[in-house]
Amino acid sequence: MTHITRREALGGAAALIAAGPAIATPPAGSLEQIAKGRGLRFGTAVAWHTIQPEGAKGVKGGNPAYARLIADQCGVIVPENEMKWQWLRPTPTSFAFERFDAIVAWAAQHGIAVRGHNLLWHQPKWFPAWLNAYDFGTDPHAEGERLLTTHIRTILARYGTRIRSYDVVNEAVRPSDGALYDTSLSRAIGGAEPTLDLAFHTARAAAPQAQLVYNDYMSWEPHNEAHRAGVLRLLEGFRRRGTPVDALGIQSHLITQGSAIGATIARQQGAWRRFLDAVTAMGYDLIITELDVRDNGLPADIVLRDRAVADYTRGYLDITLAYRQIRDVLCWGLADRYSWIEGFEPRSDGSRRRPTLYDDALRPKPMRAAVAAALAAAAPR
Ligand code: G3I
Repeated sequence: MTHITRREALGGAAALIAAGPAIATPPAGSLEQIAKGRGLRFGTAVAWHTIQPEGAKGVKGGNPAYARLIADQCGVIVPENEMKWQWLRPTPTSFAFERFDAIVAWAAQHGIAVRGHNLLWHQPKWFPAWLNAYDFGTDPHAEGERLLTTHIRTILARYGTRIRSYDVVNEAVRPSDGALYDTSLSRAIGGAEPTLDLAFHTARAAAPQAQLVYNDYMSWEPHNEAHRAGVLRLLEGFRRRGTPVDALGIQSHLITQGSAIGATIARQQGAWRRFLDAVTAMGYDLIITELDVRDNGLPADIVLRDRAVADYTRGYLDITLAYRQIRDVLCWGLADRYSWIEGFEPRSDGSRRRPTLYDDALRPKPMRAAVAAALAAAAPR
């Protein structure tokens, strides 16, 4: 997208002015209904335990009200963890499909689509311990290829027609310098690029109809310059080598940096548009895959904090949804109590994070209204 309209050029500031009344009176209907009206889909990540019946044997945290909320609001879900190697591959020779299967079955029961996340999270930190320590034997190249292709083919043979969009590779670029991570697998195969290429080629051959996505968290906030540049280099390389990649997943784990939301957006939007322009100029589609907000630099006061988070989200979505290459908007959890953020990065003042659309009692927050308004305002696809 090279042509920028006056409204887009005014960007964040204009978006925020527009956001005021829209947030006060959110458009009617579920988020999926609102999204659908614009040719979009709305969804969320789902953790297996949250959709289990209350009091189910051996399950902590089953919450039928939360499951109902997801079913009511979403047209697509993605397993938060259950498809990752760490969950799915207890050993080099086995697959533990039960929880992943249960999520897919639950989605089918409710008429909801499923995205796949992910076939290869290419960082040692997120490999199962056995894979980091794996003995690739006398022909590491052949054994590395066998391990990776068997993993991908086994999953796609099971879900190739049911799941139409996969994060084939997740977070392969090092944010600090934009280089690619090395892993036990890439050392065996002979480099990170051939490893990622092999993942995509294998996925395309096994599920020719599926949308194949490279997913990462390079964001629009400061200090993401090297990460964005690294992702662009990776995407250029995919095109040059004819690697079958259809879309970039923009995770959208947003981070506020104080209460001056309009000024922050005004400062960040130019670099963000240049990045998305470069990605789409290469012919890639886009997906918002993991939207949530870390409420950094905001007061503990819940009313002020929620309002700032909502404004920041609205400004981001207005700018980003202007790219019609986006057809899917997924959050990384719908309610604060199920967000990963509290466990990974608590607030320094001790108050609980409020990173999602619904509060602990599953009441809609201003961020929910902001997402609804942004979806309603998006240009039709
Ligand atoms: O299941 C165990 C539980 O038995 C144990 O009591 C508990 C104690 O720490 O750990 C539980 O596992 C944790 C799991 O989340 C479930 O809560 C793991 O330690 C923890 O590493 C895992 O974190 C997940 C993380 O990815 C790593 O896989 C988060 O839930 C998940 O939200 C997060 O998702 C990632 C995306 O896949 C990629 N993009 C970034 C995003 C957020 O970090």
